[in-house]
This record gives sequence, structure tokens and C-alpha cells, in this order.
Amino acid sequence: MDSIEIKGGTPLQGTIQVSGAKNAALPLLASALLPHGESTFTNVPDLVDVRTMGKLLRHIGCEVSGDRSISIRPPASDPKGAPYELVKTMRASVLVLGPLVARYGYARVSLPGGCAIGARPIDQHLKGLRLMGAEVILEHGYVECKAKRLRGAMIVFDMPTVTGCENLMMAAALADGTTILENAAREPEIEELAFVLNKMGARIQGAGTSVIKIEGVEKLEPIEHAIMPDRIEAGTFLVAGAATRGDLYVRGARPDHLDAVLAKLRRAGAKIEVDAEGIRVRAEGRFQSMDITTQPHPGFPTDMQAQFMALAAIADGQSIIKEQIFENRFMHVSELARMGADIQTDGRVAVVRGVAGLSGAEVMATDLRASASLVIAGLVAEGTTKVQRVYHLDRGYEHIEAKLQAVGAQIQRVP
Ligand code: EPU
Repeated sequence: MDSIEIKGGTPLQGTIQVSGAKNAALPLLASALLPHGESTFTNVPDLVDVRTMGKLLRHIGCEVSGDRSISIRPPASDPKGAPYELVKTMRASVLVLGPLVARYGYARVSLPGGCAIGARPIDQHLKGLRLMGAEVILEHGYVECKAKRLRGAMIVFDMPTVTGCENLMMAAALADGTTILENAAREPEIEELAFVLNKMGARIQGAGTSVIKIEGVEKLEPIEHAIMPDRIEAGTFLVAGAATRGDLYVRGARPDHLDAVLAKLRRAGAKIEVDAEGIRVRAEGRFQSMDITTQPHPGFPTDMQAQFMALAAIADGQSIIKEQIFENRFMHVSELARMGADIQTDGRVAVVRGVAGLSGAEVMATDLRASASLVIAGLVAEGTTKVQRVYHLDRGYEHIEAKLQAVGAQIQRVP
């Protein structure tokens, strides 16, 4: 199994390019099931999760071709469902549920089960489909959904759920009548999906706010679309640039997607400049401590919590970090502690007492964003850090070691 070896201490300098967004690409590729004909997405990131979605769409019966630019032609009829083998490796596979039942009237998708960061049920997805008139049966680890044609409904989410909202938006796009989604998630990826569905001919208003209105249409048309830049990859590079006391320009980073992240970087003492093409981060000296509470967008993203913990670990003073989205997203804590960080957790709260510096160690990646946090810690630590189980990183960061090498990091993949 590959690992990543980092010799810490070099400030990152230069320009780094953001790739297409993983969490936009996954629902967008699933949305290609809706129209009659071939849709094409460009700026697709080369990631394991994207390849898994391609595999799943092929299994369903789609013709899928290309990689950076992916074209998808859904089957005319009789689609296959999503098997356990694929869903267990990627929870986002559940995004095919809404489109399949809306377009073909039937879907059989494996239930995802728990994962490293929490239980992550899909009850809200299923509640919405039931309210839209689908018959939903849970049997043998699978969810079976049937509906001749879904009908519009009023759906109030118990909590904002990103993929739940995406699944129901796609389902409602082809339903009979109007669907209202209340307490909807407001992430930029949801706006992107609504934009693409509208390009296909859907009638969706309010995406990006907590109330989304979808007037169902009979049929959707295929489209071509370039995927938006990845705000979490961009945020990760900004933290890495600051943590190494570098001077890094993150090309493609969109400040309007990163308000909460930029506010915390500024609070820590980093200098941020934005222009039309990207964001420049510079830092020197000791960071100030920062308190962070993760929230649904536009609050501070859970997907940036682990990376900021690496920064808090070397800040001056005590930072309090609260994880409110997932119940088990502190697995990086014990690994950061092996590098000299002083962190105590109590349930969903971590108290980070900043230390003067970290020291390189062998550590284990446990999930995607935890891995990114360990890479950042390795970049600032004295000596060599070896991050094992890098397959987590490859799910969501495109060629991370090559990108970081190009801005001066001493990092390499060791087979
Ligand atoms: N939840 C329920 N029931 C549901 C749906 C969600 O209880 O039916 C709970 C979850 O357990 C969680 C909270 O609601 O506690 C929010 O979960 P959400 O459904 O929003 O998460 P998700 O859609 O499964 C997406 C991203 C995650 C990101 C979260 C939160 C994709 C493909 N994944 O997951 O990304 O952390 O939203 O922003 O968009 C990552 O990229 O590393 C990642 C984990």
C-alpha cells in the first residue's frame, strides 16, 4: 500500500491550481441519468470517488466515456440498481436513487451503513421519496423504491442534508407538480446542481437558500457543463500555505464559497488577498488561537475542521473546536498527538493547546479530511512524517503530492 513521505519545514511558495469539485461532480454525474441523451461534464477531477461513480453508472447501464471530460448516456429502459460492493466503498452512490426512481419508476440501491465519521443514515432521503408517493421497501440491506410517477410534495428536512437535498431535487425535477424543500442545505454544490438541472430544462428556484421550489417537468434534455472548483481542496491549500508560513496563490479558489474559512485564517493571523482568479495567502510568525464550530453552509464546514486543527495545534494559546455535523470526526486527534500536538477531546469538543512545533512521525490516515490534516501537520513538522493509508487522500485530492511538490513541498509517494 502506498504511503506519503513528507520532510517538513519548507514554506509553500508559488501558484497551485484547484481542481473540479468532488462533491459537485458526484451529484452532477448522477444527474446525467435524468435526461434522454448524452450529457458531458468537463473539468472533472481525477479522483477515486469519481471513478467509482463512473463504474456505478456503467453498472446501471449507462454508456460512460472519457475521464477529464466525461460523457454519459443513460439506458433507454431497465436500469440496474446500485450494488453493495460499490455503495460500501462510496456512500455518495446513494445519489442515483432519486434520478432512477424519477426517470424509470424503480430503483434498488444498497443501504450505505455507517462509516468512519458517523452513522450517516439516509432517512431524510427516504422520507422525501415517500412523501412524493414512492413505495419504499427496506429489505436484505437494500432500499427498493417504486413510483409510476413521483408527485410534488411539501418536504421539511429534520436537518439540512447535502446529498439528501440533491437526491430529492433530482427526483422532484421529473415529478408531477410542485415540490417545496424546506430547511434545505445551502451548500454551493446544491446551487451548482440546480443550475445544471435548470440547464436540462428543470424549473428550480431558491437553491442556495433554505427553501427550494421545484416545478416538475415531463422530460429533461442533455447538457454540457464545466464543474465548479473544489472549495474544500482550495481551503486545504490555503491552510497549508498559511501553516508553513508560505506565500501561496490558490488559483481557482472562490472567495464567495470560502467566507467562513477565510475569516478563521484571518483570525489566526494569515494575510489574505482575493482577486478575480483566486486567493493569495501569506503568513509569518506564530498563529493566534481560533475557536471553531462546524455548521451547515454558510457556517464553518465540517470538511475543513481537521485541517484547521493542524493549524490550531501550532497556534499560540488554546483553541476550542466543536464538531456539530458528524459524531465521530476527531480521528486525526490521536495521530496529531503522535506528532506532539496537545489536544483533549470530550464528545464533540476538542481543546487544542498550541505547541511551539510538531515533530515528524509515522501516522495513519483514517478518512479523507483527517488525511489532509496529517499532510499539513507533516509539512510544518520538524523531520520526516510518513502518512499511511493514502488511499483516503486519493478519494478527494487530485495528485496532491505533485501539486504540493510544485510549490516547494518535500513530499513524495512511496509505494
Ligand atoms: N443525516 C441524517 N439523515 C439523513 C441525512 C443526513 O441524520 O437522511 C445527518 C448525517 O448523519 C449528518 C448530517 O445529517 O450528521 C449532515 O449530513 P449530510 O447528509 O449533509 O452529509 P452527506 O450529504 O452525506 C456531504 C458531503 C460530505 C460533507 C457533508 C457535510 C458529498 C458527496 N459529501 O455528505 O463530504 O462532509 O455533506 O457537509 O457531498 C467529504 O468530502 O470529505 C465529505 C465527507
